[in-house]
Amino acid sequence: MQIIVIYPGTFDPITNGHLDLVARASRLFHKVIIAVADNAGKAPLFSLEERVSLAKQAAASHTNVDVIGFGNLLVDCARQHGATVILRGLRAVSDFEYEFQMAGMNRNLAPELETLFLTPPEQYTFISSSVIKSIAQLHGDISSFVPEIVYQQLLKKFSQD
Ligand code: COA
Repeated sequence: MQIIVIYPGTFDPITNGHLDLVARASRLFHKVIIAVADNAGKAPLFSLEERVSLAKQAAASHTNVDVIGFGNLLVDCARQHGATVILRGLRAVSDFEYEFQMAGMNRNLAPELETLFLTPPEQYTFISSSVIKSIAQLHGDISSFVPEIVYQQLLKKFSQD
């Protein structure tokens, strides 16, 4: 049986922490779909098209990884793409409550989907897209936390500040 896993998030922008998860999932599953949520409510710095493009370039070395954008319910998006597993990262205990609630709601909406959690290695446990953006805005060095393409785009976004 071919197992397709969907990895949803806002990815504003995608970081090395996200990519670490993608790399490990690509070894575990036949196909990984990085699903970039429109998530206008989060007022993203990068447009949906930019976030999808950055994720595509950052994950290009994995032949079994696809990147899509979505604006509907995650469970509907998963069904549309034949995914049976939702992948999320758990960085710290503080992630747990939110992830537990989301996994429970998604199970209620679509009982056939399983949510699976992977934990990142220690050097990525404190990374989040917001932290990366605020350091970049103040011209701090974020080069070890994001792929080169994201680094260049963040420099561009904040070059006027
Ligand atoms: N490495 C680095 N950072 C990570 C990470 C990892 N492994 N895992 C999570 N993060 C960070 C993200 O960068 C993000 O940081 P930020 O808040 O500073 O931007 C934060 O942790 C969590 O955000 P993210 O993983 O992007 O998830 P989200 O909470 O923004 O989005 C969705 C959650 C998109 C999956 C959810 O809103 C969704 O499913 N939306 C679709 C609509 C829907 O179905 N809603 C009902 C859900 S029950």
